[in-house]
Amino acid sequence: MYAVTAATGNLGRLVLDRLKGDVVAVVRDPSRVPSGVEARHGDYDDPISLRAAFAGVERLLLISSSELDTARRITQHRNAVDAAVAAGVTAIVYTSFLNADTVATGMTEGHHATEQAIFESGLAHTILRNPFYGEAFLPQVTDGVIRSSTGGRGLNTAFRDDLAQAAANALTGDDHLGRAYDLTGPLWSCPEVADALGVAYEEVPDAAPGPMAWLNGLVRAGALERQTPDLEILLGRPAERVIARLKG
Ligand SMILES: NC(=O)c1ccc[n+]([C@@H]2O[C@H](COP(=O)([O-])OP(=O)(O)OC[C@H]3O[C@@H](n4cnc5c(N)ncnc54)[C@H](OP(=O)(O)O)[C@@H]3O)[C@@H](O)[C@H]2O)c1
Repeated sequence: MYAVTAATGNLGRLVLDRLKGDVVAVVRDPSRVPSGVEARHGDYDDPISLRAAFAGVERLLLISSSELDTARRITQHRNAVDAAVAAGVTAIVYTSFLNADTVATGMTEGHHATEQAIFESGLAHTILRNPFYGEAFLPQVTDGVIRSSTGGRGLNTAFRDDLAQAAANALTGDDHLGRAYDLTGPLWSCPEVADALGVAYEEVPDAAPGPMAWLNGLVRAGALERQTPDLEILLGRPAERVIARLKG
């Protein structure tokens, strides 16, 4: 039997859609799970609930918590790993983030610590290091112009649909245990997209300080330009391109 945590989230719902039959959704609020799927209560802050929820589960997809406090998030993920061991889960697949293997601070601190906890747990495992979701960066055409503060640099984002399919494949496939996948979508840039849509491109300063300005700074520094074949390998096909999503 498979289990998926955080199955009420945007990614988890898409994974559930792809796992027909022998799957349990482990969530804080079982009433929010689609009918026809077994739902069990499991809260990352409540180790006892997790242990009960993982009973009889062979392979667990641990989707990272949306908790913003890093220390609490690490505790939550450790709770899930410990509960998996205690419940006799045989393998765990974890949705980590790109570079969490090498960067133990900042944005990837929680993922790095979780990966370490999984390695130390003795569980068979697969690590999926996701890129930024493409949905958050989709360019918009306003008055015939795409404006961005990305410096024309490349982005390796991927859409949740493809990352969910990759997670479902990793969970159910036979060849993924003991492996870590650094998942990147096909590289794209805002000027390229403007060109493909036949609209103008204008580079503008960040509108205001905040999360988007921080993300744009990362893009301008080239931090999202890494490319690997891993997402395409896990999917068995190319990942969806931004231009295809925009053209519908
Ligand atoms: N790659 C990226 O660009 C990116 C961007 C944002 C987030 N993420 C990470 O990827 C994860 C999945 O993405 P998403 O789009 O599905 O996020 P999402 O839609 O925000 O879903 C977050 C999920 O985490 C669950 N959760 C939060 N606290 C929990 C707790 N204490 N116990 C059990 N479940 C808890 C939520 O449950 P409820 O429905 O009960 O609240 C929800 O199911 C996020 O949680 C975050 O760690 C990645």
